[in-house]
Amino acid sequence: MIKIVETRDYNDMSRKAANVISAQVILKPDSVLGLATGSTPVGCYQTLVHWCEKGDLDFSKVRTVNLDEYQGLEKWHDQSYYYFMRENLFKYVNINLDNTNIPDGSNPDAEAECARYHELIESMGGIDLQLLGIGNNGHIGFNEPADVFADKTHKVELAESTIDANARFFKDRDEVPRFAYTMGIGEIMSAKKILIIASGKAKAPIIREMIKGPVTPKVPASILRFHPDVTLIADVDALSLLNKE
Ligand code: GLP
Repeated sequence: MIKIVETRDYNDMSRKAANVISAQVILKPDSVLGLATGSTPVGCYQTLVHWCEKGDLDFSKVRTVNLDEYQGLEKWHDQSYYYFMRENLFKYVNINLDNTNIPDGSNPDAEAECARYHELIESMGGIDLQLLGIGNNGHIGFNEPADVFADKTHKVELAESTIDANARFFKDRDEVPRFAYTMGIGEIMSAKKILIIASGKAKAPIIREMIKGPVTPKVPASILRFHPDVTLIADVDALSLLNKE
């Protein structure tokens, strides 16, 4: 069962999510954190930066693995997730960059890159706390709706709806990469704890589907209901359809 924490708004969601991550790092300073991109976690990362600057939080021993990366973008492309993590978190906290990991989207050898990433996660001893956003179509990481749940890191073809949703970050839709490398559902489900965050009315239908609909690879996030320790922190807007018939 997914624990649900309702927040007033986006800022309240961001602070509460940062509190959970902060508690994890305080209790286990060398935690392996699974990190996410997208607009939803930006406020949470800003809060973590603020607490780190105040000296309330110490990332010096933290290790991270990100969920996904576009295939074909160089690291320093301003829409790569490598760049996103640098600009939104890593640059501003005392993390050792050698302890941060993101699939290498510039490696054209998908098989080799995905195998490397899977082994890396294993070698780190698994993920202590995985942060997730959710796509409008229920994707987590870049695990798009499919016929089966993918186990390990793999190459995916992005859904048209994902390309539409992410086109806002690119000059035009044609520039959005068609493929990505993403952690698999098996790797995500192996995390000891999972924290999923959502904000805004646009996410309300998929949040309802995730919680109330069938557990199916057609709604990848629905599998989280089978994980023993998942918390959803979402604002009233994102939860607004949950109790409607
Ligand atoms: C992106 C990412 C996901 C993210 C999702 C939602 O494409 N690959 O990890 O959770 O879409 O993004 P947003 O938070 O901007 O709604």
